[in-house]
This record gives sequence, structure tokens and C-alpha cells, in this order.
Amino acid sequence: MSQQPADLMERVVNLCKRRGFIFPSAEIYGGFRSTYDYGPIGVQMLRNVKDAWWRSMVQLRDEVVGIDAAILSPPAIWEASGHLTSFADPLVDCRECKERFRLDKLDDPDVCPSCGKRGTFTEPRQFNLMFKTHAGPVENEGAVAYLRPETAQGMFVNFKNVLETSRKRPPFGIAQVGKSFRNEITPQNFVFRTREFEQMELEYFVPPADALRWYEYWCEERRRWYVELGIPEDKLRLRPHEPDELSHYSSGTSDVEFLFPWGWDELEGIANRGDYDLTAHARHSGEKLEYFDQATGERYVPHVIEPAAGATRTMMAFLLAAYDEEEVRGETRVVLRLHHRLAPYKVAVLPLSKKDTLVPMAREVLASLQPHFMCDYDETQSIGRRYRRQDELGTPYCVTVDFESLEDKAVTVRERDAMTQARVPVDDLVGYLRDRLA
Ligand code: GAP
Repeated sequence: MSQQPADLMERVVNLCKRRGFIFPSAEIYGGFRSTYDYGPIGVQMLRNVKDAWWRSMVQLRDEVVGIDAAILSPPAIWEASGHLTSFADPLVDCRECKERFRLDKLDDPDVCPSCGKRGTFTEPRQFNLMFKTHAGPVENEGAVAYLRPETAQGMFVNFKNVLETSRKRPPFGIAQVGKSFRNEITPQNFVFRTREFEQMELEYFVPPADALRWYEYWCEERRRWYVELGIPEDKLRLRPHEPDELSHYSSGTSDVEFLFPWGWDELEGIANRGDYDLTAHARHSGEKLEYFDQATGERYVPHVIEPAAGATRTMMAFLLAAYDEEEVRGETRVVLRLHHRLAPYKVAVLPLSKKDTLVPMAREVLASLQPHFMCDYDETQSIGRRYRRQDELGTPYCVTVDFESLEDKAVTVRERDAMTQARVPVDDLVGYLRDRLA
């Protein structure tokens, strides 16, 4: 990989718009407050990020099960979890330019980054980040509901249901992927911090005496996941939280951090939540949320280790890490060197020319690949430009049907990174690609 450009962030944001990964939301109306829509290519990649997480956290484990809990939730959940009182950021207003900021994210807490004036901030006040709404037609206090600010609570309140139906015993986990909403004071850096985003969270319930061991296990396991999917080791680190950084529920947290263009920042938090959540929900709901071990006769409240990642934020990190530019025959080639599991399309089928003779065979090849791989098909423009487009989408393999193909029943397979080409019989194509995309 060549040196990444200084304005990497701008180039990736441009690529996302130009190629259909991510669009500013409601763009034809001037956009809507740092919200984003995932386009035809982006939706595919985001799905792949979530699938890769699900595969590693649920599919490859027999002690983890998944759920999909409701986004709309009653105040009782957030009262018990502590979010109604503690899920807040310090907000300051600049008296001069009227802009608002999150105090703990300012470079200098006395200088307004918008107008540059010193000493113009109001006293900080705690601003709760939850989106409040009403369920049903009457907008009174009894109808108040919240959009969940994290997926985690859906798993704690279903602890008993899952325990009773899944026949699991600690250590066991509940996993969930889905949307969360936070009324962030300063959404920023493209999809890094937005008000609507997707999370991938695991609540791992363990015997209290084993909590520290499992916390250390999950820190390493999660770091490994990012490296396996292509984040270079030197762009990733585990950073334990200082005591004054810990969330209200945590007795120990480490962040998996990525070296973003603006510096090290969080991709995922791995927290040792102790028995905070199950005890709080048991107290507020009156339900017993504990585990009874029939073999030993022991009854206890499991402790929880929580690896909590952002799907949208992680997708952005994968894009930044994969972006590359190189000189090829006097031209700049932009290529996304994405891990094949994350690539939006695995294969693109390209007839060398649009002439009638090649298209039927190309379509036949496409139809034979589609049941196995997510494929693109493109017959417009020169073959060189079509390769460049697929490079920018991160497509690992291009399959070209040429005039010789009609004779030898073989196609040219071009690999994205090294741009090497191989002639492969059509009959062997699925197996050839499967070996390389497994
Ligand atoms: N249940 C614990 C929890 O939610 P968190 O550190 O607040 O912990 C977990 O969130 C992950 O969710 C973060 O590491 C980040 O990747 C993602 N995330 C949080 N807020 C976000 C936002 N406003 N925009 C995008 N992703 C966000």
C-alpha cells in the first residue's frame, strides 16, 4: 500500500458520494443536520460489516444467541439503567456567536472555536442525549417514550426470557445489532458521530469470580477482529479508561481505538459492567434476574462484560484504512483494498464489448455466479474505465467475457490488488472464486 494522502478524509467522503456509498440525508432539501443515507453500495458494505460481526460473535459460538429488541421503549427502562439521570454531556453556549458546544470536546474550554472569542461561554449545563417522544395520540406524561440510545438495555430486560428459552448457562452471551439514537450536541466527522447510528453489542454474562478474566479475553478478541478484517496493527490500539472517564455503570473499560485522520479515537468500548444492570432492573421491575445453578445449588447475579461497537463508525474506519492511490501507466488508480468479506460486490461481470454476441454469454456467466456471490454487471464504457470503477468500489474480482470466450468457453479473471489476470474455464469459475473468497 502506498502512502495515504494528507486529505484522506475529504477523498473518502467524496468517493462515498461519487460511487453511492453514503449520501447526505434529505440532500434535495439542503440536507438534515448531520444525518446520512446509505446508497446502493454503502448499504451492501454496512450489511457486510454487521454480518462479519454476527458471524464472529454469534454464528461461530455456541454460547451466544441473538435478539432484536424494540427501539421505542418506556421511561422505566431508562430510569433503571441510570440514563434518565446520567446520560448527559456538558453543554455550553457562546454568548457572542450563539453557537453551542460540548465542553469536554473543546481544545480550549475558554475559547469559542466558532468566533474565536475568549471567555464568552455560559456556565455548563448537563444536556440529556435521549430522544423523547410520545407513544399514541395523546402527548401527556403517561405517553412518554424514548428512542433507545444504546441496544444494550434490550438485552438486559430480556435476560430472563433468553435464559428460560435458550437453555444457556454462564458464561453465555446475548448479541444485538441495530439502530440507536442520541441527540449529540456536536455530531461531527462524517458518520463518526451522528444522531442516528447502528451499534453491534454483546452482553456476556459470567460468574462474578471470572469477570476479570473474561474482560481481558474480550479486549483481545475484539482487537483481533478488526485486524483480521484488514485494519493495520499500527492503526489500532487498546486504551484503558482513566478512572474519571468511566461511565456510571463501569468498573473497567478499554476502548479499541483507530488512528483516524484527526488522531486516535474510539471504535468500540469493552466494559466490565459488574452486576450493575441486572441488579438495577431487578430492583425496579421486581423480577428476579439471577442464575440458579442446579448442579451446585448456587444462586447468583451474573456479571456482565460488554463489547459495544458502532457499525456505521466501524464501516468508516474500514473505508479509511482501505483507501489507496497508486500510479498505473501514468494514471492515478484509486482502489479500496477492502477485505473480501466487507467488499460490497465480490465479483463484477464485464463483457469486453456491448456487441450482441458477447452479452448473452456474459449474462449466462452472471446468472451462474449470482446464487453464490454478490455480483455487479456492467457493459458500458471502456474496459479500463470499468476496472477503475470496480477498484473504487473495492470489488475483489472482475470477470471479463471476450471474443475468445465464445470459442474456448473461458473468461479472464482480474484480481483487484495486484491486477493479475488468469484465464479460467467457465465451468470452473464458481469453484475458482469460492476458493479465493472463502
Ligand atoms: N452500551 C454501551 C454503549 O453504548 P458507547 O461507548 O456509548 O457504549 C458504543 O457506544 C459504540 O457505539 C461506540 O464505541 C461507537 O462506535 C458507537 N457510537 C456511540 N455513539 C455514536 C454516535 N453518536 N455516532 C456513531 N457511533 C456511535
